Amino acid sequence: MSQTPFEQAGSLEIGTVEFVSPDEIKIAIDIEAPDSMALNTGGPRPFPRVNEYLLIPVDQGFLVGQVEWITVERSPFPKRKGMQDFGLIDLPYPLRRLSLNPLGILRAVSSGENFEFRRGCDVLPSVGIPAILPTDEQLKAIVESGQKKRVYIGTSPVANNAKVYVDPDRLFGRHLAVLGNTGSGKSCSVAGLIRWCIESAAKETDGKLPNSRFIILDPNGEYSRAFSKDDDKIKVRIFKINPAKGELPLKVPLWFWNSAEWCAFTQASAKTQRPALMHALRYVREGISEPSPDASIEMRQYLRTILTTIRIEQNNGTPWGNYPKPKSFFEKISKWKTSLGTDIAAFNGDQLTKLKDLVEYIESICKPREVTHPDWDFTRQEIQELYNKANEAHSAFGGSPYDLLPSDVDVPKPFDGTSLLRCLESVGEMLNISEHIETLLIRIRALLEDKKMKQLFVDDCNINLQKWLKDYIGNNEDGNLLSIIDLSLVPTDVVHIVTAVIARMIFEALQRYVKLNHIALPTVLVMEEAHTFIKHYKEDAENQDAAAVCCQVFERIAREGRKFGLGLVLSSQRPTELSPTVLSQCNTFLLHRISNDRDQEIVHRLVPDNLRGLLRELPSLPSQYAVLLGWASELPVLVKMNDLPKSQQPRSDDPDFWNVWTGKDEKGNPVERKTNWQDISDDWQQKTSSNTNVEKEESDNKENGEQKNEK
Ligand SMILES: Nc1ncnc2c1ncn2[C@@H]1O[C@H](COP(=O)(O)OP(=O)(O)OP(=O)(O)O)[C@@H](O)[C@H]1O
Ligand SMILES: [Mg+2]
Repeated sequence: MSQTPFEQAGSLEIGTVEFVSPDEIKIAIDIEAPDSMALNTGGPRPFPRVNEYLLIPVDQGFLVGQVEWITVERSPFPKRKGMQDFGLIDLPYPLRRLSLNPLGILRAVSSGENFEFRRGCDVLPSVGIPAILPTDEQLKAIVESGQKKRVYIGTSPVANNAKVYVDPDRLFGRHLAVLGNTGSGKSCSVAGLIRWCIESAAKETDGKLPNSRFIILDPNGEYSRAFSKDDDKIKVRIFKINPAKGELPLKVPLWFWNSAEWCAFTQASAKTQRPALMHALRYVREGISEPSPDASIEMRQYLRTILTTIRIEQNNGTPWGNYPKPKSFFEKISKWKTSLGTDIAAFNGDQLTKLKDLVEYIESICKPREVTHPDWDFTRQEIQELYNKANEAHSAFGGSPYDLLPSDVDVPKPFDGTSLLRCLESVGEMLNISEHIETLLIRIRALLEDKKMKQLFVDDCNINLQKWLKDYIGNNEDGNLLSIIDLSLVPTDVVHIVTAVIARMIFEALQRYVKLNHIALPTVLVMEEAHTFIKHYKEDAENQDAAAVCCQVFERIAREGRKFGLGLVLSSQRPTELSPTVLSQCNTFLLHRISNDRDQEIVHRLVPDNLRGLLRELPSLPSQYAVLLGWASELPVLVKMNDLPKSQQPRSDDPDFWNVWTGKDEKGNPVERKTNWQDISDDWQQKTSSNTNVEKEESDNKENGEQKNEK
């Protein structure tokens, strides 16, 4: 005969409430309660253990508490129940006590068989009430809290191995941070989560591939092993420099870069170099790399440059700044006067009048300064009038005020690197700042000439934006797509920029998707080794370096990504080094072993006081175990992640010193490690890499030829 819930609760009783406060409940454990193993719960279960759950009956159901500590106290006599023999001599007796953190309320739903857990307790129990062990169903209800149990990710060892499920909407919807020491299992967890999500979704799609999109930015090149290209359940694309068979070349065209990225890469100085770079970028994007053959169009471009330059100088205060700033401004406008005057005869009508007006006005403000010791300072009115005159001339040549808006400089319109160089040179001459932009030119030239970089950036104009987006983010018809972007061979000086550009392009593409379709395209972007790419940076630095620009992109994604369906997953060993903005925007955390004090402190700050119990286990967690907390999980739960077979784990094996030393593995198979320093040095010095490719191609051709002949 089955027990009534009441009888069952009676048999599971293990102690009595002795002390109640809003954040702590103390229990005295009965003498007859199990010592190390509870058998009365439906199956053997270790008891009592820290971080396990206990129930206390209250009005609406059961209050759920998590064991914070357990202790033994010497009591003058055992705790007695009912009528007992008080005539005996009482000897000191070890009494067990434990403390609970109240977490929430467990209610029975409908039939009484199912339970539902909710965080927060509105009523607390009184003293003298029994504390009981939860049954398996109750434990399950606590751990599997949440409505949508969609993806099975592991089991919870503190809840009698109840299955832990997550809802991908919650897991990825508000960004997930996977944190933990090296070797604690982060990459395996990330690879597992992606795989289990896709596999679970596939069960609901009647044999079709699910329409999912994951993009992994993989700085160590470890994920290509976890997802095989031949897997028919998951469609994988691997982008890489020097791609192997079946992989695709990684391309991040130079024309994708926006002005901030160019400035960060070239370290352009704010005053002269940056404006020159902006002008040049705008020109090449419009396809103007050479002076236009049409004199009036060329004049319009020139006048536009003059207009923007006046605005920039005005904002910098150059015309009235300290000596020699006004003098250099004077020299600049004198040069304009000469350039404008030279071709003036080619025009007529309104264009001629307006141009003449401008030249005469420049002359009138230059004249007084052509004496021996002039007063260089310009007045504000003089500069405003200069701007007005130039503006009138600009309009006469067909220019519109919209031409002057700075936004178009970031539109990804194709151009090639050499045009940018040429454009920059001519802007330098036009603005009389050639000597100031020399360093800028050198940096860009070095970028264009580097062999390794060429692979990334070459053929720029042959890639079109639509194809790039289709390749990297995926198409509807393709079904699920997992893009693994292997950054391991990207040269270190551009890796931050390349990462920033890819992340930004994905974000902006999804932003535009929402703008046009009024609905989001759910996509997950994974950033491995986030501490190098989303690194805390100094905000006040005048010249933002590439790392700062990269971090800013991710900060933007963390802040706004949710609205456009972009979920961020970041994995890092050093939470302290991460940008606080990004970390605070992550709503779900999967915490693996963290032993460093400062890193622990950061994660402790993420959770309210009464939930910190589990986090104390962080320094001692074995790999593959993690604490899941935040939006995706009603309660922090300790999860043992599902097992990933070796072939599905990212490539990050620990180095096998012993096997290499002894030349064999555990099974006696020979283990070899040859040292091929010649290849390495050649590759490093970029000596023969292109030759070897040529040689290889030649030998391939030869072989093919021979085969054909044989046929
Ligand atoms: N779910 C899992 N299934 C099987 N093995 C696992 C699992 N999680 C972790 N491991 C084991 O732990 C080892 C280390 O895991 P992993 O490479 O994911 O660590 P990591 O935290 O990413 O380290 P690093 O910070 O150095 O990249 C793996 O080689 C694997 O043997
Ligand atoms: Mg890893």
